[in-house]
Amino acid sequence: MAPTLSLLFLTISSLLSSAYCAPAPPRYPDSSSRHTRQVSVQRLQTNQPTLSLPSNSNVTLQYVALGVGVQNYSCETGAPESIGAIATLFDITDYLQQKGRSRVGKHYLQAYERQTCQASQNLDDNTCETSINYLDFSVLGHHFFTPVGDAAAPIFEIYDDQRLLSAQKVGVVPAPARAYDGEEGFGAIDWLFLPSDGSQRTVGLSEVYRIHTAGGSPDPEGCAAVPAETVLSYKYVAQYWFYS
Ligand SMILES: *[C@@H]1O[C@H](CO)[C@@H](O)[C@H](O)[C@H]1NC(C)=O
Ligand SMILES: *[C@@H]1O[C@H](CO)[C@@H](O)[C@H](O)[C@H]1NC(C)=O
Repeated sequence: MAPTLSLLFLTISSLLSSAYCAPAPPRYPDSSSRHTRQVSVQRLQTNQPTLSLPSNSNVTLQYVALGVGVQNYSCETGAPESIGAIATLFDITDYLQQKGRSRVGKHYLQAYERQTCQASQNLDDNTCETSINYLDFSVLGHHFFTPVGDAAAPIFEIYDDQRLLSAQKVGVVPAPARAYDGEEGFGAIDWLFLPSDGSQRTVGLSEVYRIHTAGGSPDPEGCAAVPAETVLSYKYVAQYWFYS
């Protein structure tokens, strides 16, 4: 018994001392959660909060993504106006099923805010977003905007299944008061209901909800002292619930 105990003690003390020497590993509170209860995708769908957005009862849940990226605003009119976004979509469907809940925490945005990166011009460069991916979610796809006439359509591209949703913003509801405002404190962007815009671009998806938003809102005074052609970018995370 004695050698085993002292070995155990050595192991624990070396773990403790290495903990003091090594930089603290990234910690994410959910990863220590003790309770897991697998729920069906159907159950996940039933549990999706929609606030006053249209009901999801006529469609079937395909994926839930954690979007990590930036919301962009133009200064052309003198006040910030939304012109688009770019985000990496991580697949959190299995994670939410295992946890039996509908969200991951604000910690992802907080971790992302600590990085000095901005979204890259290169859509396929996920380096920054991946650097905060403590729970090893796989990359599901991308969110970006594509010019359509004078406007821009929000696009959601799912890599593996080659599905794509070209969407239009139909339902808008403010994020709940408890939402994380972001480090700069300008607030969480609205929750949205975005069905397909009916264009030929859409394949295999009918609609997406943007919920559990954190950050992404602009400084209302952000355009005050910058040239009119400035694009302001604000970091955000949100969950995208995809249906077909
Ligand atoms: C489902 O119903 C909502 C309204 O509740 C509607 O806006 C949406 O287009 C419908 N989706 C499909 C795929 O029929
Ligand atoms: C948003 O801004 C980022 C830079 O922060 C840029 O890489 C991206 O192309 C912009 N996207 C849109 C749709 O404006």
